[in-house]
Amino acid sequence: MSDKKLVIANWKMNPVTAKEAEEIFDFVARKASRLKKVNLIFCPPSIYLPLLSDKIRNMNLGAQNMYWEAKGAYTGEVSPLMFKDFGVSHVIIGHSERRYKMGETDEMVNKKVKAAFKYGLVPVIAVGERERTNFDSSGKYINVVDDIVVNQLKAALKDIPSSKIKSVVIAYEPVWAISTSGTGLVDTPEDALSVSLLIRKVIAKMTSIKVAHAIPVLYGGSVDSKNVGGFVKQEGIDGVLVGGASINKGEFVKLLEVVGS
Ligand code: PGA
Repeated sequence: MSDKKLVIANWKMNPVTAKEAEEIFDFVARKASRLKKVNLIFCPPSIYLPLLSDKIRNMNLGAQNMYWEAKGAYTGEVSPLMFKDFGVSHVIIGHSERRYKMGETDEMVNKKVKAAFKYGLVPVIAVGERERTNFDSSGKYINVVDDIVVNQLKAALKDIPSSKIKSVVIAYEPVWAISTSGTGLVDTPEDALSVSLLIRKVIAKMTSIKVAHAIPVLYGGSVDSKNVGGFVKQEGIDGVLVGGASINKGEFVKLLEVVGS
Protein backbone atom coordinates (compact mmCIF):
# COMPACT_ATOMS: atom_id res chain seq x y z
CA MET A 1 0.00 0.00 0.00
CA SER A 2 1.33 3.40 -0.88
CA ASP A 3 0.67 6.68 0.92
CA LYS A 4 -0.79 8.00 -2.32
CA LYS A 5 -4.34 7.01 -3.19
CA LEU A 6 -5.16 5.88 -6.70
CA VAL A 7 -8.11 7.45 -8.51
CA ILE A 8 -9.19 5.94 -11.81
CA ALA A 9 -11.57 8.01 -13.93
CA ASN A 10 -13.66 5.66 -16.05
CA TRP A 11 -15.40 7.93 -18.55
CA LYS A 12 -17.22 4.95 -20.11
CA MET A 13 -18.79 6.01 -23.46
CA ASN A 14 -18.72 9.73 -22.60
CA PRO A 15 -18.55 12.58 -23.55
CA VAL A 16 -19.81 12.54 -27.12
CA THR A 17 -17.45 15.13 -28.62
CA ALA A 18 -13.68 15.47 -28.62
CA LYS A 19 -14.07 19.13 -27.68
CA GLU A 20 -15.86 18.23 -24.44
CA ALA A 21 -13.32 15.48 -23.72
CA GLU A 22 -10.51 18.00 -24.05
CA GLU A 23 -12.31 20.53 -21.84
CA ILE A 24 -12.89 18.03 -19.03
CA PHE A 25 -9.35 16.73 -19.28
CA ASP A 26 -7.70 20.18 -19.32
CA PHE A 27 -9.75 21.44 -16.38
CA VAL A 28 -9.18 18.36 -14.22
CA ALA A 29 -5.51 17.94 -15.15
CA ARG A 30 -4.74 21.57 -14.28
CA LYS A 31 -6.35 21.32 -10.84
CA ALA A 32 -5.09 17.82 -10.11
CA SER A 33 -1.46 18.67 -10.81
CA ARG A 34 -1.36 20.42 -7.39
CA LEU A 35 -2.51 17.35 -5.49
CA LYS A 36 0.53 15.43 -4.33
CA LYS A 37 -1.29 12.57 -2.59
CA VAL A 38 -3.25 11.38 -5.61
CA ASN A 39 -2.25 9.11 -8.48
CA LEU A 40 -4.72 9.85 -11.23
CA ILE A 41 -5.43 7.63 -14.22
CA PHE A 42 -7.77 8.81 -16.96
CA CYS A 43 -9.61 6.12 -18.91
CA PRO A 44 -11.34 7.96 -21.78
CA PRO A 45 -12.98 6.24 -24.74
CA SER A 46 -10.16 4.91 -26.96
CA ILE A 47 -10.92 7.34 -29.77
CA TYR A 48 -9.83 10.29 -27.55
CA LEU A 49 -6.50 8.77 -26.56
CA PRO A 50 -4.45 10.36 -29.38
CA LEU A 51 -5.82 13.76 -28.37
CA LEU A 52 -5.06 13.34 -24.69
CA SER A 53 -1.82 11.41 -24.87
CA ASP A 54 0.04 14.58 -25.96
CA LYS A 55 -1.14 16.35 -22.82
CA ILE A 56 -0.44 13.73 -20.17
CA ARG A 57 2.31 14.77 -17.77
CA ASN A 58 2.13 13.63 -14.13
CA MET A 59 -0.90 11.51 -14.81
CA ASN A 60 -1.53 8.22 -16.51
CA LEU A 61 -3.78 7.08 -19.29
CA GLY A 62 -5.73 3.88 -19.13
CA ALA A 63 -7.88 1.93 -21.56
CA GLN A 64 -11.37 0.75 -20.62
CA ASN A 65 -10.94 -2.57 -22.39
CA MET A 66 -8.69 -4.21 -24.98
CA TYR A 67 -8.37 -7.34 -27.08
CA TRP A 68 -5.93 -10.10 -26.15
CA GLU A 69 -4.13 -10.41 -29.49
CA ALA A 70 -1.48 -7.94 -30.66
CA LYS A 71 -2.81 -7.61 -34.23
CA GLY A 72 -4.79 -9.38 -36.91
CA ALA A 73 -8.29 -10.08 -38.19
CA TYR A 74 -10.34 -8.90 -35.20
CA THR A 75 -12.70 -6.29 -36.62
CA GLY A 76 -13.55 -3.53 -34.18
CA GLU A 77 -11.00 -4.48 -31.54
CA VAL A 78 -8.03 -2.52 -30.21
CA SER A 79 -4.78 -4.26 -29.33
CA PRO A 80 -2.52 -3.80 -26.31
CA LEU A 81 0.31 -2.64 -28.57
CA MET A 82 -1.87 0.09 -30.08
CA PHE A 83 -2.66 1.37 -26.59
CA LYS A 84 1.00 1.29 -25.63
CA ASP A 85 1.83 3.32 -28.69
CA PHE A 86 -0.31 6.15 -27.27
CA GLY A 87 1.27 6.07 -23.83
CA VAL A 88 -1.41 3.99 -22.12
CA SER A 89 -0.11 2.33 -18.95
CA HIS A 90 -3.21 0.68 -17.45
CA VAL A 91 -6.21 -1.21 -18.77
CA ILE A 92 -9.50 -1.95 -17.02
CA ILE A 93 -10.37 -5.60 -17.54
CA GLY A 94 -13.64 -7.35 -16.67
CA HIS A 95 -15.71 -4.27 -15.91
CA SER A 96 -19.27 -5.40 -15.11
CA GLU A 97 -20.64 -3.54 -18.13
CA ARG A 98 -18.37 -5.64 -20.34
CA ARG A 99 -19.24 -8.82 -18.48
CA TYR A 100 -23.01 -8.33 -18.45
CA LYS A 101 -23.76 -6.09 -21.42
CA MET A 102 -21.13 -7.41 -23.87
CA GLY A 103 -21.05 -11.04 -22.70
CA GLU A 104 -17.45 -11.08 -21.50
CA THR A 105 -16.68 -14.37 -19.74
CA ASP A 106 -14.17 -15.25 -17.02
CA GLU A 107 -12.03 -16.97 -19.71
CA MET A 108 -11.95 -13.82 -21.81
CA VAL A 109 -11.03 -11.78 -18.75
CA ASN A 110 -8.18 -14.20 -18.02
CA LYS A 111 -6.91 -13.97 -21.64
CA LYS A 112 -6.95 -10.18 -21.42
CA VAL A 113 -5.10 -10.13 -18.11
CA LYS A 114 -2.42 -12.41 -19.59
CA ALA A 115 -2.16 -10.19 -22.67
CA ALA A 116 -1.86 -7.06 -20.52
CA PHE A 117 1.16 -8.57 -18.77
CA LYS A 118 2.63 -9.88 -22.00
CA TYR A 119 2.56 -6.43 -23.59
CA GLY A 120 3.47 -4.42 -20.51
CA LEU A 121 0.17 -2.88 -19.38
CA VAL A 122 -1.05 -2.91 -15.78
CA PRO A 123 -4.38 -4.76 -15.57
CA VAL A 124 -7.04 -3.18 -13.36
CA ILE A 125 -9.25 -6.20 -12.77
CA ALA A 126 -12.85 -5.40 -11.86
CA VAL A 127 -14.79 -7.88 -9.75
CA GLY A 128 -18.12 -7.65 -7.98
CA GLU A 129 -21.47 -9.28 -7.37
CA ARG A 130 -24.55 -8.28 -9.37
CA GLU A 131 -27.03 -8.24 -6.55
CA ARG A 132 -26.70 -7.88 -2.86
CA THR A 133 -28.87 -10.91 -2.18
CA ASN A 134 -27.70 -12.73 0.84
CA PHE A 135 -30.69 -15.06 1.19
CA ASP A 136 -31.67 -18.08 -0.87
CA SER A 137 -35.27 -18.83 -1.84
CA SER A 138 -35.89 -20.58 1.49
CA GLY A 139 -34.68 -17.55 3.41
CA LYS A 140 -31.37 -19.13 4.41
CA TYR A 141 -28.40 -16.72 4.63
CA ILE A 142 -25.83 -17.24 1.91
CA ASN A 143 -22.86 -15.06 1.35
CA VAL A 144 -22.98 -14.65 -2.42
CA VAL A 145 -20.62 -11.70 -2.35
CA ASP A 146 -17.69 -13.74 -1.14
CA ASP A 147 -18.24 -16.59 -3.60
CA ILE A 148 -18.65 -14.39 -6.64
CA VAL A 149 -15.73 -12.14 -5.86
CA VAL A 150 -13.44 -15.06 -5.02
CA ASN A 151 -14.42 -16.98 -8.16
CA GLN A 152 -14.02 -13.99 -10.47
CA LEU A 153 -10.66 -13.19 -8.97
CA LYS A 154 -9.33 -16.74 -9.20
CA ALA A 155 -10.57 -17.05 -12.80
CA ALA A 156 -9.02 -13.73 -13.82
CA LEU A 157 -5.63 -14.70 -12.35
CA LYS A 158 -5.64 -18.34 -13.45
CA ASP A 159 -2.19 -19.57 -14.56
CA ILE A 160 -0.57 -16.21 -13.88
CA PRO A 161 2.69 -16.43 -11.91
CA SER A 162 2.99 -14.59 -8.61
CA SER A 163 5.85 -12.52 -10.03
CA LYS A 164 3.19 -10.93 -12.27
CA ILE A 165 0.26 -10.92 -9.84
CA LYS A 166 2.23 -8.54 -7.69
CA SER A 167 1.61 -5.75 -10.18
CA VAL A 168 -2.16 -6.05 -10.65
CA VAL A 169 -4.70 -3.54 -9.43
CA ILE A 170 -8.02 -4.96 -8.22
CA ALA A 171 -11.22 -2.92 -8.21
CA TYR A 172 -14.13 -4.16 -6.14
CA GLU A 173 -17.25 -2.85 -7.85
CA PRO A 174 -20.55 -4.25 -6.61
CA VAL A 175 -22.76 -3.99 -9.69
CA TRP A 176 -25.82 -2.94 -7.68
CA ALA A 177 -23.89 0.09 -6.40
CA ILE A 178 -22.89 1.45 -9.83
CA SER A 179 -24.66 4.77 -10.35
CA THR A 180 -26.44 3.66 -13.52
CA SER A 181 -27.75 0.44 -11.93
CA GLY A 182 -30.88 2.30 -10.83
CA THR A 183 -30.80 1.06 -7.22
CA GLY A 184 -29.61 4.39 -5.82
CA LEU A 185 -27.48 2.41 -3.36
CA VAL A 186 -23.82 2.82 -2.45
CA ASP A 187 -21.76 0.30 -0.54
CA THR A 188 -20.56 1.28 2.91
CA PRO A 189 -16.83 1.84 3.49
CA GLU A 190 -16.94 -0.97 6.08
CA ASP A 191 -18.40 -3.49 3.62
CA ALA A 192 -15.98 -2.41 0.90
CA LEU A 193 -13.13 -2.82 3.36
CA SER A 194 -14.22 -6.32 4.30
CA VAL A 195 -14.33 -7.32 0.61
CA SER A 196 -10.91 -5.72 0.13
CA LEU A 197 -9.57 -7.90 2.94
CA LEU A 198 -11.17 -10.95 1.35
CA ILE A 199 -9.49 -10.08 -1.96
CA ARG A 200 -6.14 -9.80 -0.18
CA LYS A 201 -6.70 -13.21 1.44
CA VAL A 202 -7.21 -14.81 -1.97
CA ILE A 203 -4.12 -13.05 -3.34
CA ALA A 204 -2.13 -14.14 -0.27
CA LYS A 205 -3.00 -17.78 -0.99
CA MET A 206 -1.95 -17.41 -4.63
CA THR A 207 1.24 -15.48 -3.84
CA SER A 208 2.35 -14.25 -0.42
CA ILE A 209 1.13 -12.06 2.41
CA LYS A 210 3.60 -9.41 1.32
CA VAL A 211 2.14 -9.24 -2.19
CA ALA A 212 -1.43 -9.34 -0.83
CA HIS A 213 -0.63 -6.38 1.37
CA ALA A 214 1.09 -4.42 -1.39
CA ILE A 215 -1.35 -4.64 -4.29
CA PRO A 216 -3.77 -1.74 -4.67
CA VAL A 217 -7.40 -2.69 -4.01
CA LEU A 218 -9.91 -0.03 -5.02
CA TYR A 219 -13.61 0.49 -4.46
CA GLY A 220 -15.98 1.57 -7.24
CA GLY A 221 -19.72 2.26 -7.35
CA SER A 222 -21.42 5.69 -7.07
CA VAL A 223 -18.32 7.32 -5.62
CA ASP A 224 -18.67 11.11 -5.40
CA SER A 225 -17.10 14.03 -3.57
CA LYS A 226 -19.38 13.48 -0.56
CA ASN A 227 -18.77 9.79 0.07
CA VAL A 228 -15.20 9.35 -1.23
CA GLY A 229 -13.61 10.38 2.09
CA GLY A 230 -15.20 7.42 3.89
CA PHE A 231 -13.67 4.95 1.44
CA VAL A 232 -10.18 6.35 1.12
CA LYS A 233 -9.67 6.81 4.82
CA GLN A 234 -9.78 3.01 5.18
CA GLU A 235 -6.24 1.76 5.20
CA GLY A 236 -7.17 -1.37 3.24
CA ILE A 237 -8.77 0.62 0.40
CA ASP A 238 -6.10 2.14 -1.82
CA GLY A 239 -8.31 4.31 -3.95
CA VAL A 240 -11.44 4.52 -6.05
CA LEU A 241 -12.69 3.78 -9.55
CA VAL A 242 -15.05 6.58 -10.50
CA GLY A 243 -17.57 6.50 -13.36
CA GLY A 244 -20.35 9.13 -13.51
CA ALA A 245 -18.67 11.67 -11.24
CA SER A 246 -15.47 11.62 -13.32
CA ILE A 247 -17.06 13.33 -16.33
CA ASN A 248 -18.54 16.12 -14.24
CA LYS A 249 -15.41 18.24 -14.07
CA GLY A 250 -16.34 20.42 -11.07
CA GLU A 251 -17.55 17.46 -9.03
CA PHE A 252 -14.53 15.38 -9.98
CA VAL A 253 -12.06 18.06 -8.92
CA LYS A 254 -13.88 18.31 -5.56
CA LEU A 255 -13.58 14.53 -5.20
CA LEU A 256 -9.87 14.67 -6.00
CA GLU A 257 -9.37 17.42 -3.44
CA VAL A 258 -10.97 15.26 -0.74
CA VAL A 259 -8.72 12.34 -1.65
CA GLY A 260 -5.62 14.52 -1.89
CA SER A 261 -6.17 16.45 1.34
P1 PGA B 1 -20.14 4.97 -11.15
O1 PGA B 1 -19.40 3.90 -12.08
O2 PGA B 1 -19.09 5.71 -10.40
O3 PGA B 1 -20.91 5.83 -12.12
O4 PGA B 1 -21.03 4.19 -10.24
C1 PGA B 1 -18.33 3.16 -11.62
C2 PGA B 1 -17.93 2.15 -12.66
O5 PGA B 1 -18.81 1.55 -13.28
O6 PGA B 1 -16.73 1.95 -12.91
